[in-house]
Amino acid sequence: MSDKTFKMTLHVWRQSGPNDAGKFERYECPEVNPHMSFLELLDDLNERLIADGQEGIAFDHDCREGICGACGVVINGVPHGPQRRTTTCQLHMRQFINGPHEVWVEPFRASAFPIIKDLTVDRGAFDRIIQAGGYVSVRTGSAAEANEIPVPKKIADRAMDAAECIGCGACVAACPNASASLFTGAKISHLGLLPQGQPEREDRARKMVAQHDAEGFGGCTNHNECEAACPKGISVDFIAQMNRDFLKSMLTAKDDVPNRK
Ligand code: SF4
Ligand code: FES
Repeated sequence: MSDKTFKMTLHVWRQSGPNDAGKFERYECPEVNPHMSFLELLDDLNERLIADGQEGIAFDHDCREGICGACGVVINGVPHGPQRRTTTCQLHMRQFINGPHEVWVEPFRASAFPIIKDLTVDRGAFDRIIQAGGYVSVRTGSAAEANEIPVPKKIADRAMDAAECIGCGACVAACPNASASLFTGAKISHLGLLPQGQPEREDRARKMVAQHDAEGFGGCTNHNECEAACPKGISVDFIAQMNRDFLKSMLTAKDDVPNRK
């Protein structure tokens, strides 16, 4: 592949804080290296802004290997950008060699993900959904012998497919209802499919769905935009699985978890 650099114009959402109105600012990038990741392009731009006495663009990142879920911006209207099944940190500028060379960069937008600054949003709502039931209560101690609890291969594979969710939030940003059903469905399913997840299965579905709704995420109306935007290819089948678990759990509800509106 060519090492030839190319020019790009970025329009980046700048917002100094949650109460600022925010607006796009235009930046020229005269030497975009095709081997750079999209985040490295922002790093490069930030170095130039800071050298020029301006404030750098705030954006989230951590592993830069596509596994932590920290990164994520909307690039030309698409969460994580134009390459399917790819996080923003793993999106490389070679994808843009033949254009587009004018690119708009925005934060993930949803009322349940308030903007902190520029491209960073508060995804604490996801943590609270997990806290509501996304765990298995076990006695701690030495690890159990792996073969003590046999799990059929098909079930183990399906649980692993759900467990691939990295909690990035692209599904919410892509959904016209700003629903977090794909995230919640994946987190409910990866535990609910396994033997270890059975004792709390019903409470888990009710509590996590109730927390999803309490956080202000919308309901799923089957647009499937979430699956298309998901960098891990999480299937909307897990939303159906969540709905089945939720309905079943409502028939057996014993405690004070609120009904879904
Ligand atoms: S379901 Fe996909 S898009 Fe949604 S949080 Fe998980 S990994 Fe990200
Ligand atoms: S920085 Fe970890 S997934 Fe992108």
